[in-house]
Amino acid sequence: MGLNPDGVASLDTTRPNVARVWDYWLGGKDNFAADRALAEKMLAINPLAAQMARENRQFLYRSVGYVTRAGIRQFIDVGAGLPTADNTHEIAQRIAPDAKVAYLDHDALVVRHADALLARSHSVIALGGDARDPRAILADPDLNKLIDFTQPVCLVLCGVLHFLDLETSREAVATFVEAIAPGSYVILSVGVGNEDLSSDFVAAYKAANLRIYSLEEFTSFFAGLEIVPPGVVPAQGWTGDDEPPALEPRSASFLVGVGRKTR
Ligand SMILES: C[S@@+](CC[C@H](N)C(=O)[O-])C[C@H]1O[C@@H](n2cnc3c(N)ncnc32)[C@H](O)[C@@H]1O
Repeated sequence: MGLNPDGVASLDTTRPNVARVWDYWLGGKDNFAADRALAEKMLAINPLAAQMARENRQFLYRSVGYVTRAGIRQFIDVGAGLPTADNTHEIAQRIAPDAKVAYLDHDALVVRHADALLARSHSVIALGGDARDPRAILADPDLNKLIDFTQPVCLVLCGVLHFLDLETSREAVATFVEAIAPGSYVILSVGVGNEDLSSDFVAAYKAANLRIYSLEEFTSFFAGLEIVPPGVVPAQGWTGDDEPPALEPRSASFLVGVGRKTR
C-alpha cells in the first residue's frame, strides 16, 4: 500500500510531526528539536497533555489485556504511532503468545521504525494505511495474509480519530465494524478538553488538524456495538470492571471505550 503525502512529508525533521510529539510526551527518544518545541508549547497551553498521553497508553494496556483474556488473538492497530514500551503486540503476546498484530499508520516514519523493530517477527507486521480510507486498509494483501477476517479481531483506533472529521470518523469505524466477524472488539480513544483549552490547543496543533469531540459524538462511533463496562469514560477511569472509580473533574482527558460486535 502506498503512503500518503502526509507520511512522506513527516520525514522532514525540521517540521514537527504528530507521532514524534506524542513520543516526546511519552518519554521516548524518537523526536527532534522541532517536535520538542511544539510539544512544550502545547504543554504550556495544556499542562495535562503528557499525563493524558500516558493515561491513554495505560488504557491501551488495560483494554488490550481485557480483549486478549476474552479470547481474541488478532489485532489491527490503526494510527499505531512510534513503537514504545508495551505496544499492543507485547501486551497481547504476554497473555497469548500466538496473538497476531498488524500495526498501521499513515506516517512513513512510523511504519519504517515499526518495521525495523519487528523485522524478525512473522506474527507482527507494520503497514502504511490511512484511517480515512478503511476500504484500502481492509483490502491490503499483507494485512489479509496475517489476519483471518472470518474470525473475531480487535480493531484499535487509539488517539487517531481526533485527526479525522466527525463524518469521516463515523464512516471509518462503521466500515471496519461491518467487515469484522461477530465476537470482535473495537478499542477507541480521543482527546477532549473544555472549550477555552481546546481552541488554544487546536490552534497550536494546527499541522495536525485536530478536532475535539463531545461525549455524544464520541459515543456515536460505537453505533451497532455493545459497549463493555465501565462504558465510555475518561481513560484514567477505564478499569474493565462494572464500577469506574470516582474521578475529579478535569479540564482535559482522553475519552475511551471498548465495543463488542455481538452479531
Ligand atoms: C497521538 S498518536 C497515537 C498513537 C497510539 N495509537 C497511542 O494511542 O498511543 C497518533 C498517531 O496516529 C497517526 N495518524 C494520524 N492521522 C492518521 C490517519 N489518517 N491514518 C492513520 N494514522 C494516522 C499519527 O501518524 C500518529 O502516529
